[in-house]
Amino acid sequence: MSNKFYVTTPIYYVNDVPHIGHAYTTIAADILARYYRLKGKSVFFLTGTDEHGQKVEKAASAKGHKPKEHADIMVENFKNLWKRLNISNDAFIRTTDEGHKRIVQEILQRLWESGEIEKRSYSGWYCTPDERFWTEKDVVNGVCPDCGRPVEYIEEENYFFKMSNYKDKLIQYIEENSSYIQPETRKNEVLGFLRTQTLGDLCISRPKERLSWGIPLPFDENFVTYVWFDALVNYYSATRYLANPLIPPLERGGEGGLEGGTQVEITGWWPADHHIVGKDILTTHAVYWSTMLMALEMDLPRNIFAHGWWTVDGRKMSKSIGNVVDPNKMIDNYGVDAFRYFLFREVPFGLDGDFSEQALINRINTDLANDLGNLLSRALTMIEKYREGIIPGPINSKDRDEWEKRIQGLLAKPAVGVSPGNVFDAFDVFFERLEFHKALEHLWSIINFLNEYIQHTAPWKEKDQGTLSNTLYTLAEALGIIAFYLFPFMPSTAEKIWMQLGIKADIKPPLPKWGDLKIEGIRVNKAEQLFPRIEDEGKQHKVVSKQTRDIPEALEGKNLISIEDFAKVELKAGKVIQAEWVAGSNKLIRLQVDTGQQRQIVAGIGKSYNPDELVGRTVVVVTNLKPVKLMGVESEGMLLAASDGTGIVSILSPDKEMPPGAKVK
Ligand code: ME8
Repeated sequence: MSNKFYVTTPIYYVNDVPHIGHAYTTIAADILARYYRLKGKSVFFLTGTDEHGQKVEKAASAKGHKPKEHADIMVENFKNLWKRLNISNDAFIRTTDEGHKRIVQEILQRLWESGEIEKRSYSGWYCTPDERFWTEKDVVNGVCPDCGRPVEYIEEENYFFKMSNYKDKLIQYIEENSSYIQPETRKNEVLGFLRTQTLGDLCISRPKERLSWGIPLPFDENFVTYVWFDALVNYYSATRYLANPLIPPLERGGEGGLEGGTQVEITGWWPADHHIVGKDILTTHAVYWSTMLMALEMDLPRNIFAHGWWTVDGRKMSKSIGNVVDPNKMIDNYGVDAFRYFLFREVPFGLDGDFSEQALINRINTDLANDLGNLLSRALTMIEKYREGIIPGPINSKDRDEWEKRIQGLLAKPAVGVSPGNVFDAFDVFFERLEFHKALEHLWSIINFLNEYIQHTAPWKEKDQGTLSNTLYTLAEALGIIAFYLFPFMPSTAEKIWMQLGIKADIKPPLPKWGDLKIEGIRVNKAEQLFPRIEDEGKQHKVVSKQTRDIPEALEGKNLISIEDFAKVELKAGKVIQAEWVAGSNKLIRLQVDTGQQRQIVAGIGKSYNPDELVGRTVVVVTNLKPVKLMGVESEGMLLAASDGTGIVSILSPDKEMPPGAKVK
């Protein structure tokens, strides 16, 4: 397997400020880059801006700026946002860089000389916002079939890339390389389009008198190149003048560097491993870019992944509706890592998603504050309380063996082979398929297993000091390893976890095995909660202060649950319609209960009640329990009853008559 990993985002237009969609793609690429760095690969992660073309020229002139001045201002919005989002890009390409322009011209010249480009006269309907021509049959009512804005009829001479020659070759390539375009549904869309539609040639120039803001064609100064031709080449041009040398450069001269150098030539990074793009620009990548590379006899990227589209309340984001989600605001209100987590936990990468702040708050309160934050804080509190803040060493204890073996199995890569459920193997599979939500789900199943482990071991009751040390050590080691896997998604949270555990090192390869972190004997640094809970007070979302969050000393360790945990239990009033003994039992009674719908419940209340006296009573039922079978009889819920511990029970009933199905809360 190659030790290099090259990932790209689209280069974004500088005609507008970045929004949640731009943030989404860039964070996705960042997650990949960070993960493969942890795996020990040499990574080149590229993002940047697309600065030529009519769209940018128009946006600039609307503000009374020259296009480059406008781009210089707008590019800072992207760079600043990437800093705030903790994006670890290795380079930032601007299509106005001298290095990029030179390589675009070199490529145009090569295609011209090999006869892949030809001059023709041309007419068609042009959509300025989309920077593309449409044919007569595409345009209905004078508007662009893609964006719905007016198109204009244009007749002119232009240069064409003979894209149609590559149709069959491209179909064959996509068919033979099953993971070239992902997800599968998008690949099928591209294949469907190629098999059923005529693939025309691609107009790659604009006359200078119509558009001056572009890269001139090297073989005809009166034309500039089409913005998409210029833009797509960035993925390759950056490897030549912005990447660090992967293998020693063949030719060196002058100053190279990360900001638009012109001289240094670097080879070895092409082809890219992943182009991450939104579904809106899949065709330009899968068809234009692939065929351009074929004509240049260059390698194609290993994968183009088209993710889904974020909407807000089911509607496309738009300035006129005023529903554009500003990532800066989300960071201000909820913190960068909560935002990063939400985007990749909530919606499978590849599918469309609808953004809602309420869903984000729910994720913060349950997954982050409750599951992860409490786990860390409980572990550290106990290390402080029972071991004066020093992580104890592990001591073998027969008693807890099974739980601890299981935890080690989940977190520690075995010396040989693949172990199912192990995070190391699971992450490899999920990252291979860009199934980020599954990677997070997997990590959370381990986090919740650790929460159960605390309940199971109940350290606050433990008398055996060796066993207690073992539990505390297991929790600390497990949290240290979990932080490693969290790092690609939530880098500063992962670092905070290490800091609170007292680990001084940076998070870097290799991925740790059980015991590698050498944490025994270090002093923990319990600090503020990782994720304060957010309370929804009207529309004012309030971060709950530390004081109100602290658990009173007297309640500590008492298996406290949050209101969200309680809200998971669905309780309803139900009327008993029928009741009878379960055959062969003198304890179990089979009841038919109307809770808005009829359900069968088997209750172990036979020591205290006869079936007859139950019929007609209103009881309280847990209605969202998984069905179970008791003595072969299915039970779809549970009755609530008080118990004195001797088997005598007293059924709970509302003290006023309530209709079947009334909620109990
Ligand atoms: O198309 N949901 O730039 P662009 C998810 N310059 N992702 C979204 C989104 C949404 N609602 N809106 C935008 C361009 N994106 C060209 C690209 S590449 C050689 C040239 C993301 O500023 C998504 O990645 O319009 C989409 O593909 C990209 O922003 C488009 O950015």
